[in-house]
Amino acid sequence: MTTLHLTAEEKAILAGEEGPGRQRAMEIVAALGWIYNAERLLPIVHAHIAGVSYKNLGEAGLAFLSQWADEGARVTVPTSLNPMGMEEARWQEIGFDPEFALPQLRTVDVFRRMGITPTLSCTPYLFTAQMPRPGDHLAWSESSAVVFANSVLAARSNREGGPSALAAAIIGRTAAYGLHLEAGRRANWIVDVEVPLHSVADFGALGYMVGKAVGNGIPYFRDLAPWLSPLPARDRLADGGPAIDRLKAMGAALAAYGAVPLYHIANYTPEAIAKGETLIVPDAHTLRVEHLAPAIAAMDANPEVTQIDLVTIGCPHASLHELSLVADFVGGKSLRTKLWVTTGRITRQRGLEAGYVQRIEAAGGLVVADTCAVVAPLRSLHIHTMATNAGKMACYAPAHSGVKMRFGTLEQCLEAAVTGAWAADTAATH
Ligand code: F3S
Repeated sequence: MTTLHLTAEEKAILAGEEGPGRQRAMEIVAALGWIYNAERLLPIVHAHIAGVSYKNLGEAGLAFLSQWADEGARVTVPTSLNPMGMEEARWQEIGFDPEFALPQLRTVDVFRRMGITPTLSCTPYLFTAQMPRPGDHLAWSESSAVVFANSVLAARSNREGGPSALAAAIIGRTAAYGLHLEAGRRANWIVDVEVPLHSVADFGALGYMVGKAVGNGIPYFRDLAPWLSPLPARDRLADGGPAIDRLKAMGAALAAYGAVPLYHIANYTPEAIAKGETLIVPDAHTLRVEHLAPAIAAMDANPEVTQIDLVTIGCPHASLHELSLVADFVGGKSLRTKLWVTTGRITRQRGLEAGYVQRIEAAGGLVVADTCAVVAPLRSLHIHTMATNAGKMACYAPAHSGVKMRFGTLEQCLEAAVTGAWAADTAATH
């Protein structure tokens, strides 16, 4: 049992000397420190807040946030926001009901009052200004982003909840436990992958298989690097690319079907390059993945469905590279069903400058900023069947919105958008 040591300044915040908003934040962060036996608090450089959707928060959650803002709570480190269920600028044009939209807009305004930039994206790591550096301490509360930041960028964040990430943002500190410490970053599962991996969908399926097996463990993939192109240089990371797109899909599925906060890939991810197999604890479990069929069967949950109401790409939010792939596939065609490519507003703007957004939207698709289809009011938009290439979307959308789901490669999904129907075998390259 360790004792949480607070500095004189931290004790003063806890005593309410800097106002009730900061006191409440310190109470939350210190409580986590006591629960997890942290010895001290650590300064963070960035926070990312999930729990933005009014659909999930409800009036009680919004009232809690409003009161905190009224108490003077303001963030003290750069802080970004997860998506909500619609695009802020175009919700009317896209057909969202004011009954859904207006409380959602009030929610975003409360976050703005706290000084938070409404990036409204689950990929804060794709925005250069927010891209963490190795060793940076973060308080992030989007599980797919946490696993990416820890694994690919070697930054350090626990899987925060929305309120705890917000509390950390307000006081600029988090409790030093778990993934913030060297000991919390060692792998306790050795994973050998013995199936070929040709697409983002395959990487999502791998995330399903491993996440289901390891739960909240930390996998060390011994032989995954051959299925990945080299990671881009740091100044090109924000563009995405084949490796980034595969890793963000795999991490999201690892975190959705399990609760994986970090993985290592031998000879590939930064900590594995630096430390090799010394990262693995002595009594690590082993896992061999010999097929993806159980994952595909679970995620392609409704094989009887052939007519698709909505094809959704961009879970986690699409990179600039993914926008280019979609534009190349659908450009010059006329879509028979709805296509949403969900992305961050910063990436959408970059896609506009590159001409990708115009090509997708001229075909009849939408490049939707700010939005996660899981928390969108799909039923009121008359969407009952959906297709996706994202393992996490295949997990969450049926559970949250009752839609029937087809899961496949990017090409299968886009072909369905062009024809309106699901075609069984399309060669997978992305
Ligand atoms: Fe992002 Fe929603 Fe997927 S938050 S990771 S698009 S489920």
